[in-house]
Amino acid sequence: MNDYPNETYGLTTSQPQHKRASRKWFWIGVPVAIAVILAAVLGGVLGSRAHNNSKSSSSSSNAAASSSPTGEAAASQAASIKQEIGIFPTGTDSQYLLPIYPSTTNTAAYTTPTFHPSSNAAIAWPADPFQPSDPSPTSVRSDRPRLIAPAYKWEALPQLIPNDPYLKAWNETIFGNATAYYGLPPVVYHMDGSSGILDNAREIKMRVKAFAYVYRMTNDTKWIDRTFLELQNAAGNGTTSFGPDDQTKWNPGHFLDTAEFTAAFAIGYDWLYSAWTDEQKSQIRSSMIFYGLQPGLEIYSNGSAWWASVDGNWNCVSNSGLTMGSLAILGDDTSGIAEQIIAKTIPNTLANCMTAVSDDGTWSETANYWYFGTTGAAEMTSSLMTAAGSDFGLLSTNPDLEKTGLFHMYVTGPGSLFAYGDHGPNKFSTTANSLIFWGDQLKHPEYVLFQRDQHDAPEPNSMFWYNPTVSGAFWDGLALDHVFDNNTDQWAAMRSSWTDEDALYVAIKAGKLQGHQTHNDLDCGDFVLDAMGTRWAGELGSGDYLSPGYFSSDAQDSQRWLYYRKRTEGQNTILVNKANQLVSAAPSIKFDSSGTKQDSSTVLQVPSDSTAYFTADLSSAYDGVTSFKRGIRMINGRKQVLLQDDINASGDIMWRMHTNATVTVDGTSATLKIGDKTLQMTILNPPNGVSVTTGPAVRFSDDPALPDGASDQENPGVTVVMISLPAGTYSLQVLFNPQWDGMSSSDFKTPSAVAIDDWSLTSHP
Ligand SMILES: *[C@@H]1O[C@H](CO)[C@@H](O)[C@H](O)[C@H]1NC(C)=O
Ligand SMILES: *[C@@H]1O[C@H](CO)[C@@H](O)[C@H](O)[C@H]1NC(C)=O
Ligand SMILES: *[C@@H]1O[C@H](CO)[C@@H](O)[C@H](O)[C@H]1NC(C)=O
Ligand SMILES: *[C@@H]1O[C@H](CO)[C@@H](O)[C@H](O)[C@H]1NC(C)=O
Ligand SMILES: *[C@@H]1O[C@H](CO)[C@@H](O)[C@H](O)[C@H]1NC(C)=O
Ligand SMILES: *[C@@H]1O[C@H](CO)[C@@H](O)[C@H](O)[C@H]1NC(C)=O
Ligand SMILES: *[C@@H]1O[C@H](CO)[C@@H](O)[C@H](O)[C@H]1NC(C)=O
Ligand SMILES: *[C@@H]1O[C@H](CO)[C@@H](O)[C@H](O)[C@H]1NC(C)=O
Repeated sequence: MNDYPNETYGLTTSQPQHKRASRKWFWIGVPVAIAVILAAVLGGVLGSRAHNNSKSSSSSSNAAASSSPTGEAAASQAASIKQEIGIFPTGTDSQYLLPIYPSTTNTAAYTTPTFHPSSNAAIAWPADPFQPSDPSPTSVRSDRPRLIAPAYKWEALPQLIPNDPYLKAWNETIFGNATAYYGLPPVVYHMDGSSGILDNAREIKMRVKAFAYVYRMTNDTKWIDRTFLELQNAAGNGTTSFGPDDQTKWNPGHFLDTAEFTAAFAIGYDWLYSAWTDEQKSQIRSSMIFYGLQPGLEIYSNGSAWWASVDGNWNCVSNSGLTMGSLAILGDDTSGIAEQIIAKTIPNTLANCMTAVSDDGTWSETANYWYFGTTGAAEMTSSLMTAAGSDFGLLSTNPDLEKTGLFHMYVTGPGSLFAYGDHGPNKFSTTANSLIFWGDQLKHPEYVLFQRDQHDAPEPNSMFWYNPTVSGAFWDGLALDHVFDNNTDQWAAMRSSWTDEDALYVAIKAGKLQGHQTHNDLDCGDFVLDAMGTRWAGELGSGDYLSPGYFSSDAQDSQRWLYYRKRTEGQNTILVNKANQLVSAAPSIKFDSSGTKQDSSTVLQVPSDSTAYFTADLSSAYDGVTSFKRGIRMINGRKQVLLQDDINASGDIMWRMHTNATVTVDGTSATLKIGDKTLQMTILNPPNGVSVTTGPAVRFSDDPALPDGASDQENPGVTVVMISLPAGTYSLQVLFNPQWDGMSSSDFKTPSAVAIDDWSLTSHP
């Protein structure tokens, strides 16, 4: 047990980030006003209003509990607290784009995540007047817009915006973004090989939404003209050419592109419906049908829509675009194509897209592909709900869909995502704002509260998905650790705080190496480590999607596994005989946690016995291994990390970790430096003759050759830290000691050696 107080060591109490000059808001136009409001609140305004003694957080929360109003009074109190404190974070981290929270306690605002339903039109949406008693996907509401943003919500916004600091800031940012896009030429056609024209489609969709939003908020027709310019350009009717002059203009061979263009046209058509002339409507509709819906129906019908049977982002994005396009033109186009498409997309999405969330919440592909898949799923679900009055089962078919927010929150560390596998194309119109939708629909206010602080929150979808009656702090009562134990993706995350950008964060995975839409790496045992505001052990990301064989298959002999970033040597794990892991790997895992939860305060005092660990039996991932278990844990009140490999192998063993740090080796230890921060790593009980070495993040000279003409991505600035051991049996223990401000060398612990099989919550006091 610790015999010294935790708060001395600066994990959460020292907040040098507020002095860093490079921090600023990425999306808020009015930081000064917010800072003033925050200062007032931090000064105890709210606390002293509610209670005479606001200094003691326990007494104030007790008092708050006993005097908590209910119903309309609670909604009104929550609204005024929100107004007084304003936006919670004080800025956005310039490197990782994550929110920076003030170090403070505010027991009035930082409470349990809750929705407070209200009938007050200034603080809550009115009920949707369109409530069909027997909804059908082709019986749509009579007014426009139909998709995501119905008229009654536009009418409510002018009242809601001034009363909600988030809506207010997002509205301003969207105006600013639309103004910035206004002056740009229409998106220029760029065919990017196998990623096609997806960037073009998503950039156009992002612009169209912003233009349409500002038009509807101002009635200034210049936004109509600008939107039409963009749509005409993408239909090939602009002043510069846009793709082939035949039906493949929107690249149906890479159907994501076609689907996203269709969605962009659907929103433009629908949100601006009342402003278009009949001729414009007919033009937008005819282009959308010809380039989008017809190819979509054709590949659905002729059986070449391979994505129609996969549970990943392709299914969600493709079905979503086709559905939005169809809903937009129902009734205006009498060919029947919209009805035919909707009859296919809804059952197909129910059976595929919605099952891409596994029973622990993990997305089937990667942490980055989650954005694409869930954006498609949410836009489609929301469009059906607003257009036809029902989700038609999309929200309920997978009872574990509600865990998708947990996945995203825990996969996000203070050094950004645990970004295993491929990262995907640029995002543009893709965001994490489906959390704002799922959180409201599936009753998880903490998802809404988490996402509303993020840099990508301001966009039109958020304005309509956000339930302004949400209150509280996402972190209040949130466990620091979580395991995702479905065997397709076994992984865990542990951290020392949700609100300290300098927090300690570890995420590690085992899981199956197949069944991820060929977006994964051979990476059982791979981990990331964040501390002191930076990432120390990280991911390399995608290879070049155009490389020969990159997506050929996930079989053992796939050419994908020739590329360094996808090979086991490109991961933060153990190599045996310098060989790739076996795609047949079937690891088993164990996880335990002290169950520590953050409370109301953004400053968490971590108890000295607070810990978590994850262990995995990875023997099945290797040839030449009798047994191999890897374990990682937080020790010393979540100030240090122990990584241990208990291995018996008949081939050479190599421990590898990729870092952006400058590494100085000293025998069995190494000093890693990033900026003015330092992390020490030490081999405990080092086997004879072992030492730490370093090298570049490049393939071994004796690796199997790359396909003709192919090359690896460079990994500039990345060093591989290595520990090499001859065949044999070892317990290799590596201790990571971040050099926290205010923590001296005698404050670090050196754990005794414990076999992974004997690890428990109390095995490393
Ligand atoms: C929108 O505006 C914000 C605030 O100026 C900016 O940080 C952000 O990058 C803009 N977004 C896009 C996509 O241009
Ligand atoms: C939305 O933002 C724009 C630009 O800052 C502003 O002119 C407008 O008044 C805002 N809308 C509301 C309802 O506050
Ligand atoms: C825009 O026009 C609509 C329809 O005439 C009207 O209801 C709305 O109040 C107008 N909005 C603004 C900002 O002028
Ligand atoms: C583009 O031009 C074609 C051919 O004249 C026309 O059929 C289509 O409606 C136009 N679409 C748009 C959006 O201008
Ligand atoms: C199915 O339709 C698409 C789109 O028209 C076409 O490109 C493809 O060749 C067709 N496939 C078959 C098997 O007919
Ligand atoms: C794990 O998730 C997959 C994908 O959702 C699912 O098919 C499978 O049944 C789950 N496994 C277990 C053990 O529940
Ligand atoms: C290096 O830093 C970049 C940018 O923050 C990050 O994306 C990458 O994952 C880091 N690489 C490693 C190996 O930590
Ligand atoms: C390591 O594995 C080999 C081969 O299975 C076995 O003979 C040996 O006893 C094992 N060593 C230890 C220390 O368990």
